[in-house]
Amino acid sequence: MSASAENKARLSPESAGIAPAAPGPWKIMIVDDDKSIHAVTKLALSAYSFHGRPVAWLDAYSGEEAVQLVRQHSDVALVLMDVVMETDSAGLDAAQRIRDELRNPFVRIAVRTGQAGVVHEEEVVRRYCIDDYREKTELTATRLFTLVHTSLAHYDQLRTLEDARAQTELVVALSEAIEARSPDTGNHLRRVAAYSRLLAQLAGLDQASTHLLYLAAPLHDAGKIAIPDAVLHKPGAHDEAEAEVMRSHAEIGRRIFGNHESPVLQAAAIVAGQHHERWDGQGYPNGLAGEHIHIYGRIIAIVDVFDALTHPRCYKEAWPLKSALEYLAQESGRRFDPALIELFMQNLDQFIEIYNRLRDPDGTVH
Ligand SMILES: [Fe+2]
Ligand SMILES: [Fe+2]
Repeated sequence: MSASAENKARLSPESAGIAPAAPGPWKIMIVDDDKSIHAVTKLALSAYSFHGRPVAWLDAYSGEEAVQLVRQHSDVALVLMDVVMETDSAGLDAAQRIRDELRNPFVRIAVRTGQAGVVHEEEVVRRYCIDDYREKTELTATRLFTLVHTSLAHYDQLRTLEDARAQTELVVALSEAIEARSPDTGNHLRRVAAYSRLLAQLAGLDQASTHLLYLAAPLHDAGKIAIPDAVLHKPGAHDEAEAEVMRSHAEIGRRIFGNHESPVLQAAAIVAGQHHERWDGQGYPNGLAGEHIHIYGRIIAIVDVFDALTHPRCYKEAWPLKSALEYLAQESGRRFDPALIELFMQNLDQFIEIYNRLRDPDGTVH
């Protein structure tokens, strides 16, 4: 390595372990007792890559070998599986063992058979969750390309969903931990999540963005974990010094989540950091105005206040619904995004439905 290259390597964020490791190649396994099939397949896809990642090939020559290789490489994305090898159904038996014995639901399996009609296609596809079933003679280079492309996209999607599921569980656990210390009792966090999802849908956010907001919404006040109990739980009004301490929860929340790359935590950083900004720029912590406030922040600002007003807090009684709505209307274009307030009012029945469905057990609804 030259001196300058060495310097570059030392100074790059990767070397400091800041950037995530680049994803490796897609592992694709060819299972066939005919060696020439391995060679032909690799040749047909020699220049292939997907999402900028090339292919790393794994070779197995029997069903048994295929199962052992998948056991060693649980991150195999796709298995191109022959049927007739050591037995007439070796490939199908291997597919079954991958699903049932190895419990690997992610790897995509495409069956390529030399003999049609040995087993009925539909039954095989269903029983072993197989993505594709073709006779080898059907597999032109173009069809092979399409098959691999579709399978890798499907695999990638399954993995992403699984990651999201794991993240969701963590975020829910975190929300519950925060709720346990929060003076905002009852279903406040659940209602804020449900209202924010509804308002996001009404505002035309796509499904993924809406779902991220739904997950992140219960974390809007996470920064309060750093607020001393005496201030957080004080009945009655805060003096100016205490109010200042309370206001710090927005910036603290942003910092807690802001260093993380996960989309849910990025959303949480926005929600925590911007839910007290105001449309007219008079909010905190940064005095952002109008659309400089992320739509997540503008949505949470509305639904958090709406819910706080319509339920009792340690420092106040619940307001009647009518008064709360009057407040929202009055603050449209001042505290709140007028377009979002309009959507809220136009679809009030749906918000009321959530309000009734998630009311607190002590029945403090007016
Ligand atoms: Fe807050
Ligand atoms: Fe709140």
